[in-house]
Amino acid sequence: MRQLLIAGNWKMNGTKPEVRRLISGILSRMDESRSAEVLVLPPFPYLPLVGSMLEGTPLQLGAQDLSVHESGAYTGEVSGAMLADWECGYVLVGHSERRSLHGETDATVAAKFKAAQAAGLMPILCVGETLEQRERGETDAVIRAQVRAILDTAGIGAMARAVIAYEPVWAIGTGLTANPDQAQAVHAAIREQLSAHDDTIAGRVRILYGGSVKPDNAADLFAREDIDGGLIGGASLQSDSFMAIYEAS
Ligand code: 13P
Repeated sequence: MRQLLIAGNWKMNGTKPEVRRLISGILSRMDESRSAEVLVLPPFPYLPLVGSMLEGTPLQLGAQDLSVHESGAYTGEVSGAMLADWECGYVLVGHSERRSLHGETDATVAAKFKAAQAAGLMPILCVGETLEQRERGETDAVIRAQVRAILDTAGIGAMARAVIAYEPVWAIGTGLTANPDQAQAVHAAIREQLSAHDDTIAGRVRILYGGSVKPDNAADLFAREDIDGGLIGGASLQSDSFMAIYEAS
């Protein structure tokens, strides 16, 4: 049985008062009788503040990106070891906004995936197709290639210490959501791709869905066999909507 993961990707949003309010709101609705794991992914500058607020609670902390390098003359970069120093357990790699706005290739994403694991962090590998790719019937091939880039570099064993997030680019921030059947089909295809290498690991890896997850569509998505939680953008910025999604898990 895979533990559901509800992750909030704040992207480049927040101020100190908003962060305090959001985390307090989340903590006040965390419910130990629920089995889902809850994770927040704040911008780098807020990691220490959030880390201090969630100490001793089950709320988990992660970051949105990391450098491929360990340390050195890389102005503006943040290493995996620095994130681990601030008690991060997770880090996103290959979010579509990094791929499209910052030119990250499959090779960069694979290097970040390995750098995350080398620092003891659990990478959340983001994959997803654009609307044009879906309309051309290329969804399967695109996702398969994005997953293969990691398998070729890090090996199937590395997937035992990773999470995958399927985020169709056309559903991110648009209000369009892949319907549960569309999402389930892609999740099942990813698991099948992994199971060709290792059945046990394929059965254990958590595959999250992301892209306009809201309180009113979360339960239907999470009910599907291969959907193991959500990577939430906009709705993670308010504790009411984020925790309503958690409560739908
Ligand atoms: P939205 O939930 O705002 O569509 O964002 C999804 C996302 O990109 C999470 O990483």
